[in-house]
Amino acid sequence: MTRDLYDERPYTEHAYAETHPGRIAAVARLSGWTPPPVATARILELGCGRGGNLLPIAAGLPGATLVGVDGSSRQIDEARQVADDAGISNVSFVRGRFEDVELAEGSFDYVICHGVLSWIRETARPVLLGRMAGALSDNGLACVSFNVLPGWYERLAARDWLRFSASLGQRVEDAGASLAWLGAQLAPEHADARGHLAAVARRLDETGPAYAFHEYLAPEHHPLLVGAFLDEASAAGMSYLGDAVPATTSLDLLPSEARERARALAPAAAQQLLDFVRCTAFRRALLVRADAARTAAWQTSPDLQPAAIRRLRLASRLRPRDSRVPGARQEAFTDGDVVVQVSDPPTRRALHELASVAPRALGFDDLARRALLADATETAQSSLASELFDLWIAAGGLDLYDHDPAVTSRAGERPVACPVARWHAQHGGVVTNRLHQEVLIPDTIVRWVLARLDGTRTRQDLAREARALDGNGAVSDVELEQLVEASVDRLTACGLLVQA
Ligand SMILES: C[S@@+](CC[C@H](N)C(=O)[O-])C[C@H]1O[C@@H](n2cnc3c(N)ncnc32)[C@H](O)[C@@H]1O
Repeated sequence: MTRDLYDERPYTEHAYAETHPGRIAAVARLSGWTPPPVATARILELGCGRGGNLLPIAAGLPGATLVGVDGSSRQIDEARQVADDAGISNVSFVRGRFEDVELAEGSFDYVICHGVLSWIRETARPVLLGRMAGALSDNGLACVSFNVLPGWYERLAARDWLRFSASLGQRVEDAGASLAWLGAQLAPEHADARGHLAAVARRLDETGPAYAFHEYLAPEHHPLLVGAFLDEASAAGMSYLGDAVPATTSLDLLPSEARERARALAPAAAQQLLDFVRCTAFRRALLVRADAARTAAWQTSPDLQPAAIRRLRLASRLRPRDSRVPGARQEAFTDGDVVVQVSDPPTRRALHELASVAPRALGFDDLARRALLADATETAQSSLASELFDLWIAAGGLDLYDHDPAVTSRAGERPVACPVARWHAQHGGVVTNRLHQEVLIPDTIVRWVLARLDGTRTRQDLAREARALDGNGAVSDVELEQLVEASVDRLTACGLLVQA
């Protein structure tokens, strides 16, 4: 029996916001595809690892049924343990290889396969794609992410070096130092190669040994051109809908000459040209069944339909940067990184409305009622839809959903946090909010409070528990209550509290 590398060293555990069915369905609507209802969806994740992605989805969609499949028994055991401890009963985890596991035809509305396709033998790819196609329901959607060329070419030299060094006995923990050593040996004329090695070393520093092991040392890791992937998906009976993060593959965001050239090509060739121009290293493709696409007379198009935003819900991470200056023609909004200047008055009002209900999402109609005059014309509504679409695709900071993420902006007397986030706050690991975004919580006290927000405690109860821990009385009662209050506010703002 061959050893399982993921039993030996489990993979990093993360949630990927763009793989949430509510986000996938939103992109599908913008592409003219009618997605299956999200709240009651049947969801499959192939290569689910320790459940870092699937468990928070399950917790937020209690009416959905979820199945995670992975070949590593150690990772599946861990996923089951978290599900049990956190009381998540609508997800089951199956230890099995995707080649053999039983999947009834057409039995899943959403199939997620993140970070698997380019990590397996090349000959296994058609099998994996075939299993996905077979599992998809009629109008179901698959989200497949993988490493691509040409972006990965410049990292492959680092991989070859690290595999060679490992064959000489080097430990994975020393991978970064080893890359630095090689970089220092290179002659001055190889400055570009040194830069590439240094970039990989920085990435390994951010991600840790599990990532280094499976990305850079594992025997099977085969980034491919997106054109080759789309041919294989087509051979498996699936059509390309677009990317789960459309801003990364929008032809409109290319330099004008490349845009003109890409627009003259068929969709798959246009995407390949785009990857050469952008030196893409990672893709998140959305696929549908080709026979269902034919029946619906639906065709892949490089253009999304901004009007479809009117059927979606919007949440905003953008906040007004300065207090409003009456009469100013522009207003700055920021998500902490990017600053966007917005001049259209209804769009500005919409962003203020979204900021006032954050982290909740508002349906477009509700938002339009708040941001436009009561008797707003159809033209005004279309114009708002189009402005918000442009902001979403070009600047980020807005998130679109086809479901209502069960998140609250009011903590209530006995606050309740997402149970999977509570589990991670207690046992360690990445914390994921109800919008399926990872949240950094470096403060010990905030993590401590999060772990206890199960709806049984008031803020005063929490302050009393904290007092019992503070043996030497270094912090006053009032300070403790303030700390708890500030922690609950912070967790609410981060989208970690749910409707009780
Ligand atoms: C690189 S990890 C990605 C894990 C997770 N999806 C993520 O992106 O964080 C690849 C995962 O696929 C699983 N895997 C690889 N080949 C498999 C197969 N033939 N059948 C089932 N699972 C497999 C591994 O056990 C591992 O958990």
